[in-house]
Amino acid sequence: MTSSIEELVADWDGEALVSHYDRDSGTFMFIAVHSTRLGPACGGTRIRIYPTPVDAVHDVLRLAEGMTLKCAAAGLPTGGGKAVLAVPELPTGTARRQLLLRYAGLIARLRGTYRTGPDMNTTGADMDVLGEVTEFAFGRSPDNGGAGTSAPDTALGVRHGIVASCQHAFGSGDLAERTVLVQGAGGVGRVLVDLLVQDGAKVLVADVDPARVVQLERAHGIVPVDPADVIGTECDVYAPCAVGSVLSEASIPRLRCPIVAGAANAQLATPQDAERLRAAGILYAPDFVINSGGALHLIGIELLGWDQATLRARVEGVGPTLREIYRHADAEGTTTEAAAEAIARARLEAVPAA
Ligand code: NAI
Ligand code: PHE
Repeated sequence: MTSSIEELVADWDGEALVSHYDRDSGTFMFIAVHSTRLGPACGGTRIRIYPTPVDAVHDVLRLAEGMTLKCAAAGLPTGGGKAVLAVPELPTGTARRQLLLRYAGLIARLRGTYRTGPDMNTTGADMDVLGEVTEFAFGRSPDNGGAGTSAPDTALGVRHGIVASCQHAFGSGDLAERTVLVQGAGGVGRVLVDLLVQDGAKVLVADVDPARVVQLERAHGIVPVDPADVIGTECDVYAPCAVGSVLSEASIPRLRCPIVAGAANAQLATPQDAERLRAAGILYAPDFVINSGGALHLIGIELLGWDQATLRARVEGVGPTLREIYRHADAEGTTTEAAAEAIARARLEAVPAA
């Protein structure tokens, strides 16, 4: 990361970057409102230790843009935003609670322009704390009137996306013939493994936390993979469900899979990596499309009042949306990322700018 904050903000086409320094904890808080064209800017809050505040700004700006594309591509009446709390150490106990209450005050001052939810290192319990101060936090626990965890619906959408990707690449969506490598057995990855096992797939799992892999090995007989070996491991589908920037100039030539289809946000290290994947003959399911189940869950239930049947149908829609993207990309000779962005931008441009 070599750019300055000035360069990052000058190159970004979003609406506003709100920053606040929390002296009590030494935390930089950044809220990026990328677009409110379709509705309030929605996106989760990430708590993370970054090498420098510039890295945090880089992360929040690109993740907020991803949320704009995600909501637009999913047909949601919401815009895109994201927040990061760049902490000196991951807070726990009372210090965490106090930090979240102060952060909630910042969200409240934006009066609904930005609406948050869980993301990396934040949970429904954290949303319950934010909810004590502001109404603009999705994903509170059901006891507190929220929609609860979005991870299972994210996993379900990814499963539909994997089926659609196999249909496109192999002419059959039957996963009983397929080997899927799931990188990250957290909230999303664990449920995805369950679903894939039910589909009869052979499932390989890698996680930096060995206990999570052992648990799945006992429950399902999955095949463990060393986290360091993920990129070179042969499989039909590589499903990144942990960190971002896993698809890069360095990793793409080493991939031994015809499909990448997983939940992680911001999987492409740079925009050029979409073309690198296409040139390598690898079908890439754009992350902001295949992982939209979580946004559908949170925004659908809490903002739009969907019932379970509507939510199920919309999450299932991830499959047909991806098939349309693949057809467009083939017909136009573009990357799947470009085809997905075109769908999102068409939805955005159909609404006049305020
Ligand atoms: P999580 O924090 O529950 O799980 C992540 C898992 O990845 C953990 O088990 C962790 O030990 C593991 N991990 C971390 N670094 C790793 C590495 N280098 N190699 C292998 N494993 C590693 O997160 P969650 O909720 O499961 O989300 C996974 C990804 O999906 C994240 O990128 C998140 O931003 C994205 N996502 C999540 C949504 C949701 O509804 N939870 C919605 C949309 C995207
Ligand atoms: N952080 C999740 C995502 O990237 C879930 C989320 C969606 C949080 C919408 C808030 C609003 O999709």
